[in-house]
Amino acid sequence: MSVLEIDHLAVDLPVEGVLRRVLHDVTLPIAPGEAVGLVGESGAGKSMVSRAVIRLLPEGAAVHGDIRYAGDSVLAMGRPALRHFRTHDVAMIFQDPRAHINPVRTVGDFLVEALVERGERRESATTTVTALLASVGVSDPERRFRQFPHELSGGLLQRVMIAAALAVSPTLLLADEPTTALDVTTQSDVMVILDARRRERGLAMLFVTHDLELAAAVCDRIAVLYAGLLIEDVPTGDLRRDLRHPYTAGLLASRPDPVSPRRRLAAIPGRPLSAFEIGPGCPFAPRCPFAVARCLSERPELRDLDTGRVACHRAEELRGQLLSIATPGAASA
Ligand SMILES: Nc1ncnc2c1ncn2[C@@H]1O[C@H](COP(=O)(O)OP(=O)(O)OP(=O)(O)O)[C@@H](O)[C@H]1O
Ligand code: SF4
Ligand SMILES: [Mg+2]
Repeated sequence: MSVLEIDHLAVDLPVEGVLRRVLHDVTLPIAPGEAVGLVGESGAGKSMVSRAVIRLLPEGAAVHGDIRYAGDSVLAMGRPALRHFRTHDVAMIFQDPRAHINPVRTVGDFLVEALVERGERRESATTTVTALLASVGVSDPERRFRQFPHELSGGLLQRVMIAAALAVSPTLLLADEPTTALDVTTQSDVMVILDARRRERGLAMLFVTHDLELAAAVCDRIAVLYAGLLIEDVPTGDLRRDLRHPYTAGLLASRPDPVSPRRRLAAIPGRPLSAFEIGPGCPFAPRCPFAVARCLSERPELRDLDTGRVACHRAEELRGQLLSIATPGAASA
């Protein structure tokens, strides 16, 4: 059984009084202890998926489909059940820790609060979070405890947020671009810690990122979102070995520029569409080098293909050909 089942999720958000679709029919199960990377370009809807899971969507959002945690509908939860879900079962780590921590309270108060709210005594909560800070690589945790958020670097603060997430002993971690705001070295240090603590605790994780390589390094499966649609879901082991979707192949080709590693090579021509802009066909058709007439008129369903799922009319015939896109030079090698 899945710990989380995102079931035909569609989301509309109000823009100038009119509802606009930002997610179309996303179905994504996550098994206990499994890490799923949700990848895609900016605006694809990745954050909307993770926020929908804890019902933190912008006001006025219309949500269709269902999201189940351990079999219970999150969307149907009343206030007490939702509160229990958010404080015991799921924890979220955001891109910008400073936006999610009270700047006028100490790091210690922030960390202890969550446990005290759950009924733990302050003294034992303090011991728990001090040990957690050490486990996420925060040296001299007693001193950090007394500091305010502005006294900590971004990398240190993100470690505090990871400690806060682990403190509630969740079953499911939602991490939305947790290292994107950090410099490259800190990014990898924080990622190693997050990955290690998640694995030793057997936590399931939805890891949201625009960085396919990073997702592949820490996740068991990769789900690819494009214009609010899930277009592929593949075990990480098959990602490079057995390419099935032209967009995923293009993302893999978008490697960091070795001269300027933060800049990604523009391997996919054209701009990504927003969910509300797509026509009746394949949302990737305007940018796809393999598009045929059917692609413009008929939207490909996400369907099972061997070990994963793929939404491409030509997935079977393109298998084997896509490697040359993802690894330029491979064809001639
Ligand atoms: N509050 C809002 N009201 C209306 N539309 C919104 C709102 N927030 C986001 N959107 C739109 O919803 C779509 C999905 O946004 P989302 O933030 O989920 O993208 P994302 O994949 O997380 O992108 P990024 O990588 O930039 O974080 C985008 O088209 C965005 O413009
Ligand atoms: S369905 Fe057509 S346009 Fe879409 S990815 Fe496949 S080949 Fe390209
Ligand atoms: Mg986002």
